[in-house]
Amino acid sequence: MRSQLQCMECGQQYPIDTVIYNCNTCGGLLDVQHDFDALRKTISRETFDERLGSLEAPYNSGVWRYKELIYPDVDSTCIVSRPEGNTNLYRSLKLGQWAGVDTLYLKHEGENPTGSFKDRGMTGGVTQANVLGMKRVACASTGNTSASLAAYAAFGDMKGIVFFQDQQIALGKLAQAVAYGAMGIQVAADFDRNLELVREIAQRFGIYVLNSINPFRLEGQKSIIFETIQQLRWRAPDWIVCPGGNLGNSSAFGKALYELHQLGFIDRISRLAIIQAEGANPLYRGYRRGFNTFAPVRAHTVATAIKIGNPVNYAKAIRSLEWTNGVVEQVSDQEIMDAKALIDRQGIGCEPASACSLAGTRKLVQMGIIKPHETVVGILTGHVLKDPDATIAYHEGRLADIEAAYPNRLHRAEPSVEAISRILSSDSVRQA
Ligand code: F0G
Repeated sequence: MRSQLQCMECGQQYPIDTVIYNCNTCGGLLDVQHDFDALRKTISRETFDERLGSLEAPYNSGVWRYKELIYPDVDSTCIVSRPEGNTNLYRSLKLGQWAGVDTLYLKHEGENPTGSFKDRGMTGGVTQANVLGMKRVACASTGNTSASLAAYAAFGDMKGIVFFQDQQIALGKLAQAVAYGAMGIQVAADFDRNLELVREIAQRFGIYVLNSINPFRLEGQKSIIFETIQQLRWRAPDWIVCPGGNLGNSSAFGKALYELHQLGFIDRISRLAIIQAEGANPLYRGYRRGFNTFAPVRAHTVATAIKIGNPVNYAKAIRSLEWTNGVVEQVSDQEIMDAKALIDRQGIGCEPASACSLAGTRKLVQMGIIKPHETVVGILTGHVLKDPDATIAYHEGRLADIEAAYPNRLHRAEPSVEAISRILSSDSVRQA
């Protein structure tokens, strides 16, 4: 049986080539559902281990290495791949110590072709656009999705159209969208309103929507989990900790863990910890109330990537939490920026939203939820170069309401050996 689209609420199925984002019957979110009974007979861990280091497309991609778990029936000639994935999993003793755990890994999704995890979803979404013969693709974005869409649309010879708020889009991301040739539309409205607009415009003009409401995006993002667990020799860590904005990643992670377990690739499911910024925390608020009500929030945070108040994948994220016995926590902008400074100082580097993973781990250890002996994988979602303004403003003490705990101030010097010598010998210059 071929893969199908299936409503997560009422189970209604649709052919895989239907252009649809919500169930026609009940409005529920859709999943790409594969025939696992058939797959179980044809793939094993070895299938994927043998493809490691492959030089051939599509298996040279860290997404399409797992093609059978992402989009088994797709014709390989339709795949639009840079290739993406194959990102590093760093073990950090120092950051583990700071967070309070013995074994901390950071999976650096900022090492994807456009500098964020979005590329893993975008290869899935743009490939489906190709299958469907779509010529125009669009998204609303806090920045990274637009950078990724712009690049993949250009690479796949399609027209990219990106909507974003007319302020607070990190410069690196904005520059990418413009450079890769997407049509950029700056709207005087937040991400949540932009997402509504893009969906209406797409419907009117027959444009394919590539936000994470698109289930093919989430199929690609599952590969973050597949690759991490393969890098750990198929041992699922105790915890996977990630930032939550529109909740596409959290949704994909839960599905990936559930499916790996169903297929017998792992013998237990890692617990998922979704970390939100305090000022953009609708999932956290719902979690605290046992998810009996949902109220969008007006979002504010220094981590502009996750400045989202009405996450479209809310229901799927709750399902992920159920599947993984997961938890939700929130961290302040201060905690985010301090954790980022420490990740940066290790030479690893990330953008602010990513640092939720480390800040959240530390908080959950302090609360006694994550135990010091447990293995934690924190997901770094974006590259340090995405948001240079936030980095410099932190170190110069220019971020409102944030007192940098780990500043690295720039020095100014007259062009003389004496002046520079004075700086080098001053107490403030550390030897290490
Ligand atoms: N981290 C970064 C760097 C992001 O760009 C995003 C989302 C997230 C985390 C949150 O992931 O939405 O799957 O919960 N950025 C989107 C964008 C919304 O438009 O680039 P999520």
